[in-house]
Amino acid sequence: MSQKDKIIIFDTTLRDGEQSPGASMNIEEKMRIAHQLERLNVDVIEAGFPIASDGDYEAVKKIAQTIKGSQIAGLSRSSNMDIDRAWDALQYAGERGRIHTFIATSDIHMKYKLKMSEQEVLDAAVAAVTRASGYTPNVEFSAEDAVRTKLPFLAKVIKAVIEAGATTVNIPDTVGYTIPSEYYDIISYLKKNVSNIDQAIISVHCHNDLGLAVANSLAAVQAGARQLECTINGIGERAGNCSLEEAVMTLRTRHDILPYTTSVVTEQITQASKLLSTITGIHVQPNKAIVGTNAFAHEAGIHQHGVMMDKSTYEIMTPESVGLNQNKLVLGKHSGRHAFIDRLNQLGYSLSPEENQKAFVRFKTLADMKKEIFDEDLDAIVADEVLRV
Ligand code: KIV
Ligand code: ZN
Repeated sequence: MSQKDKIIIFDTTLRDGEQSPGASMNIEEKMRIAHQLERLNVDVIEAGFPIASDGDYEAVKKIAQTIKGSQIAGLSRSSNMDIDRAWDALQYAGERGRIHTFIATSDIHMKYKLKMSEQEVLDAAVAAVTRASGYTPNVEFSAEDAVRTKLPFLAKVIKAVIEAGATTVNIPDTVGYTIPSEYYDIISYLKKNVSNIDQAIISVHCHNDLGLAVANSLAAVQAGARQLECTINGIGERAGNCSLEEAVMTLRTRHDILPYTTSVVTEQITQASKLLSTITGIHVQPNKAIVGTNAFAHEAGIHQHGVMMDKSTYEIMTPESVGLNQNKLVLGKHSGRHAFIDRLNQLGYSLSPEENQKAFVRFKTLADMKKEIFDEDLDAIVADEVLRV
């Protein structure tokens, strides 16, 4: 694989994902997710927004101190105070620490939110990137609401921040407004009209207001973007962000027409999805692609028959490739600890010995009252007994 075919996976579950109503997490919960993101082998973990609160600062700091397998990013507005605070938390990651600074560039945001002129925004963006570059060479700049920005101005800002030291330039669809062909054209425009664009990685960050976040992200990849910003289960502001599992599995499954690679260990996807749902209490709908409980279930007789003859008739990817093992033994009151823990692992849980013990005791109590224990019962036991959500 050549470097230019590699898509950098930038996971923002702990930052934009956490902005999902009801998804805020404490430090211990963020650490659990961060460890799972490391097992998934994402390239960059956006751990939080250090200026936003002391809790967020501490979480970013702890993740920067602990996680060694991924780069760690922290968000900051384009102000000295934000940037200094971000680096204060990120410094422990050394060269793997990334300052992610942003400012809005669309007329609508500049006029109503920032009350700044184009020149003021341009100056603030350059000043922010210059200050961040004084701390680390690993600087990402985001032009918030890029999709609704006048393209010549967007190109001017992107060129200037690359000159100032940005090594990743992010072109967000902040409000989930674009469609794939339009987004393809925006990325193509920047490739053509920003003379130094090859000195930075083009990143995309899509929200899902029209249900197009994954499709838009992949269109941008086809136009030359090489970093995808996404979240587990697609959680995030409003309708959420580009779903990591959908984007990554599309790249893996349709490698024939999307010849790009990621470093994600896809077999860890189910575990990541379950862990996040359990911690936040936000469960995915049964028909959610890749991680919904029905994603690999076949109900219709014709489909069941086809799959029994040859799985490829109705399955375009294997359940095992996302970490779902479908060979199920029935669990009941006669089942032992080994089968129980095995099933928890198949469901994506990896618990400590003490947590397994607590869950096992609860399982035995339930098994005395019920003939058969279903996966949903196990999800509830883990949620209740172990994670206390
Ligand atoms: O949606 C957005 O524009 C963002 C930026 C801060 C990258 O989350
Ligand atoms: Zn966002």
